[in-house]
Amino acid sequence: MILVYGAYGYTGELISREAAGRDLEFAVAGRNGTKTRGLGIELDVDSRVFPPERAGDNLDGIDVVLNCAGPFVDTYEPIVEACLETGTHYLDITGEFPVFEALAERDREAERAGVCLLPGAGFDVVPTDCLAGHLHERLPDATHLRLGFEANTGVSGGTLASVIEHAGGGGRVRRDGRVESVPVAAESRTVDFGAGPRNAVTVPWGDVSTAYYTTGIPNVEVYTAVSPRLERVLRASHYLTGLLQFDPVKRALQALARALFEGPSEQTRETERVFVWGEASNGERSVTSRLVTPETYSLTVDAATSAAARLDAEAPTGYHTPAAAFDPGFVLELDGVDGFRDESVSDAVSPDPA
Ligand SMILES: NC(=O)c1ccc[n+]([C@@H]2O[C@H](COP(=O)([O-])OP(=O)(O)OC[C@H]3O[C@@H](n4cnc5c(N)ncnc54)[C@H](OP(=O)(O)O)[C@@H]3O)[C@@H](O)[C@H]2O)c1
Repeated sequence: MILVYGAYGYTGELISREAAGRDLEFAVAGRNGTKTRGLGIELDVDSRVFPPERAGDNLDGIDVVLNCAGPFVDTYEPIVEACLETGTHYLDITGEFPVFEALAERDREAERAGVCLLPGAGFDVVPTDCLAGHLHERLPDATHLRLGFEANTGVSGGTLASVIEHAGGGGRVRRDGRVESVPVAAESRTVDFGAGPRNAVTVPWGDVSTAYYTTGIPNVEVYTAVSPRLERVLRASHYLTGLLQFDPVKRALQALARALFEGPSEQTRETERVFVWGEASNGERSVTSRLVTPETYSLTVDAATSAAARLDAEAPTGYHTPAAAFDPGFVLELDGVDGFRDESVSDAVSPDPA
């Protein structure tokens, strides 16, 4: 039995409707009684109303919690505590770096509790993590990994609120196995994500954390396509990071984001495509692979629902990335994903990103 927490949010509701459509055994949960019960009645499933801090009293009969309530830095901890206490598997759709790292540190504890901890079961990081695993299979002695995506779709207020939550932290890359803080858009290069060459900059995407656990490759950068104009804005935003660490400013911007951004329309979710690219090199050779996926929220709904159903049937214990919990082929089982498009091995040495 799966419990979808944060079930009435933009993404949680899409996931709950998908779970109902797939006839999964699930219940909905959230902190707002009216919204949670209303959704439960509409989908004809049980509903449980509680704040994250009361998760421990509300997991009776639940095998898997799928947490969709973000910013996850505000919700994951009490829910994970309750899962470890009750032997319930935990997954979420976070893209938040501190959450990935905190859960990775609880690997042994989860192992002892017989529980699976699987953060990042959405667009961030399923396609890029599976691509990382695939590239590692192609070049097992790779020392450098670059991943990236080109997506021209909208965002929900909740996603923007989560971005704002961590914007004060700047950028991140992994060098020699260690995560380093760098300015936003610290590196830029031209990347063909699959739809032609694009200007791209580094972003603190979840793979800077997860790709290392999936592959052991010690140098990781993640890029996204941006216009040269947006690149200049991102660079300038470096001067605002201090301001974004200031709580009242952060909260005001988050409230504005929630009020103004509704999330992509159904038409956008059904028609847009995302290009995902990765390159691994070992100093002598490099290999490149690509994926084309549905729009980011559509992919998230499919990936998170599929991952929850899989954990409900059989789950590994301990902390896992998506590609490690299942295997890199997991992404290819999702609707509308095309890949892996492999390029032949190149002898050209890729410049060292570090
Ligand atoms: N990995 C990915 O690719 C991916 C894809 C989509 C979304 N996401 C992430 O998923 C999260 C949700 O996105 P969304 O679009 O669904 O946003 P949303 O529409 O704002 O929904 C957020 C949900 O979380 C609940 N929530 C937030 N803080 C809470 C707290 N402290 N305690 C209990 N419930 C809380 C909200 O309840 P209230 O309304 O009562 O506050 C709401 O149900 C965001 O962090 C977003 O970045 C990730």
